[in-house]
Amino acid sequence: MEFDWEKKYNIGIETIDNEHRLFLSLIKKLKNAKGPEEENLAFDELIRYIRYHFTSEETLMDFHNYSQIEIHKLAHLKFLDKITTFQSGIEMGAYIYEELLDFLGQWFISHSTKMDKHFSKELNGIKKNTGSSFDDFLIEEGIYDEVVQTPIKESC
Ligand SMILES: [Fe+2]
Ligand SMILES: [Fe+2]
Repeated sequence: MEFDWEKKYNIGIETIDNEHRLFLSLIKKLKNAKGPEEENLAFDELIRYIRYHFTSEETLMDFHNYSQIEIHKLAHLKFLDKITTFQSGIEMGAYIYEELLDFLGQWFISHSTKMDKHFSKELNGIKKNTGSSFDDFLIEEGIYDEVVQTPIKESC
């Protein structure tokens, strides 16, 4: 995967689309990093940016009372957990950048074109069917069981 921006990644909220562009370019920077020092720096920079980006999305969702905010936050948390696991592996000397890049690329595409697009549609007031049920998103994000076992409060 080349980690270049494609039109299909646009979710229709300008600030978030710009953040996603940077998110993707930081993944690419990590891919192009040479040697452990550059790799570690690029990974740290990416993690810092991801945290910023998640806060940015969650603030926007909070402000607009997005109906699936708790589930969306859980998907972000689950992703950060996985990233932390990669980070610990790297700190212990495992060379897992290839696996990490695969995971980052796949997660970015899946999450931004599905769950992020879902919130953008609701925030933009578009009640169009996304072609996939929300349950499918949760299964893909690996959080289906947690959500089913911990019912999320319905927002009024
Ligand atoms: Fe996002
Ligand atoms: Fe998101």
